[in-house]
Amino acid sequence: MSTLDKINQLKQERDAVILAHYYVNDEVQAIADYVGDSFYLSKIATSVEAKTIVFCGVSFMGESAKILNPEKTVIMPDKTADCPMAHMADIEKINQVRKEYKDVAVVCYINSTAELKTYSDVCVTSSNALKIVKALPNQHIFFIPDEHLGRYVAAQAPEKHFIFNDGFCHVHKSITQRSVAKTKEAHPGAEILVHPECTGEITAMADYVGSTSGIIEYAAKSSAEEFIICTELGVLYELKAKNPGKRFYSAGESQCCPDMKLITLEKIAYALEHMTNTVEMEEEMRLRANRPLERMLELG
Ligand code: 13P
Ligand code: SF4
Repeated sequence: MSTLDKINQLKQERDAVILAHYYVNDEVQAIADYVGDSFYLSKIATSVEAKTIVFCGVSFMGESAKILNPEKTVIMPDKTADCPMAHMADIEKINQVRKEYKDVAVVCYINSTAELKTYSDVCVTSSNALKIVKALPNQHIFFIPDEHLGRYVAAQAPEKHFIFNDGFCHVHKSITQRSVAKTKEAHPGAEILVHPECTGEITAMADYVGSTSGIIEYAAKSSAEEFIICTELGVLYELKAKNPGKRFYSAGESQCCPDMKLITLEKIAYALEHMTNTVEMEEEMRLRANRPLERMLELG
């Protein structure tokens, strides 16, 4: 039996649904029931009826699915797939900022550990961060863990006072002004599409800035025929499928998230067969991490 047939059979037996982020390997996106950006996937996780969710992505995604759906079994095909940025904030610093600014809102990018979420007031993703920050009554915003998304949002919410943290995504940070300019020189008609985890130098060069879904939607609607992609290159699978006549160029040499690429068909089949790599969490932690996630779903 092929791995694909095995996965399909096990999906029936285990009443499972497969969710995948746009950054995972093409063959995994191809067999997923739902593929999307972080916000879409967290919403879908709350509405699927299947008893088991196989989350093809990194650990904060599986954790968020479990936090929002304690009664479901959430499987991570590779539990070592983790987002380094998810750990790049400090509880002591959060407590210190809370002491300093009485009305501060700790706004936590969903790319964060469950523990960091428990210390936060609201979660955001790249597709709803601005909307949520603007909707908050608080004047002071401590944005964790990603400095670059924080600065991008802050520039559009001048009515708020931001405190930044120094977390970053190594994949997006590796995209340089020089390499984007060089690619643009080679393809002057190309539009530059940028994820807000990139540095301010790169968002300043963009024709469009948005989440992975936003980038995919923009490219489909745009009348341009060429695009320079400033995010992880897993998005090319959907971009090419939706736009067979358009051309896409990478803007750097290391736009690959090694953690996302750990997910393979074989690992999905193995985890489903043995029901291993389930996400487990203490109920107290889950309840505390659930609050900011639910608030995001309400406001976002
Ligand atoms: P989005 O899919 O929400 O744009 O997030 C990008 C990302 O880095 C996920 O790890
Ligand atoms: Fe984390 Fe960056 Fe990988 Fe997204 S692309 S999972 S932010 S390391």
